[in-house]
Amino acid sequence: MHVAIIMDGNGRWARKFGWPRLDGHRRGADTVRRMIRHAPELGIDELTLYAFSSDNWKRPAEEVSGLMGLLEHFIATEVSELKRQQVRLEFIGRRDRLPGTLLPAITGAERDTAEGKRLRVRVALDYSSRDMLLAALRPGMSREELSRAIGPDVDLLIRTGGEKRLSDFLLWECAYAEFHFTPVAWPEFSERDLERAMEEFRGRERRFGRCTINMNEPSSVSV
Ligand code: FPP
Repeated sequence: MHVAIIMDGNGRWARKFGWPRLDGHRRGADTVRRMIRHAPELGIDELTLYAFSSDNWKRPAEEVSGLMGLLEHFIATEVSELKRQQVRLEFIGRRDRLPGTLLPAITGAERDTAEGKRLRVRVALDYSSRDMLLAALRPGMSREELSRAIGPDVDLLIRTGGEKRLSDFLLWECAYAEFHFTPVAWPEFSERDLERAMEEFRGRERRFGRCTINMNEPSSVSV
C-alpha cells in the first residue's frame, strides 16, 4: 500500500499564531516522525512525502535555508530510530542543487537504512514530477519500463492544508490513485486523521476503468 502526502499548510498554521513560518515546518517535521511510526500499523509499506518542490527555490532565502537545515537535522537525529523501526529512507528529486552538507547526509542515510523492510519512506526533495518524467523517458519505452524507472504507483494521495491540486507531484504514479483532501494543516495532522483517510480509501471501490455490474440486477450497469 503506497500512500503519498503533500504536507501543506505549515506556513499558514504558524502565521495563525504570529510565529515565523519555519516554526510551522519544524512542527511539520514532528508530524513526519509520528506518521512514520504509525504508517506500518495501518498496512502502509510505502510512504512518499513532498518536502521541497523544485518551485520552492523561489521562496525567501531564509525559509529555503531553514528548510534545508531542518532536513539535515532530521536525518542527523532520526536515522538510528528509523533503523530500529526497520524503516528504509530514500530521497527522490534532483541532487545537484542541494547544499554541500545535505548531500552526504542524504547518501549516508540511504546507506545506513538500506536494510529496512517494514516501511520505505521516500522524501521528495528539489522534486518536479515533470522533470523526473522528462529525465526518465526513452524512445519506445513501455508503460511498465517507465514505471520501473520512475517508481511505484500511488494508491492513496493525501493533501493537507485545504488546497486541491497536485503541484507537480507524482503525476505518472497517481494515474489510478484515490485522492483525499483535508483542510487540516500538516502540523496538526494526527494519527487519527491518517486512519480516517485509510478508512475512506478502503471504503471506496477502485474500478481501474472497468464498470460495476450488479449481479442481482443485470440491467443496472454503472461506469
Ligand atoms: C508546505 O507548507 C510544506 C513545505 C514546503 C515543506 C514541508 C517540509 C516539512 C514538513 C519539513 C520536514 C520534512 C521532513 C521529511 C523531515 P507551506 O509552507 O507551503 O504552507 P502554506 O501553504 O501554509 O504556506
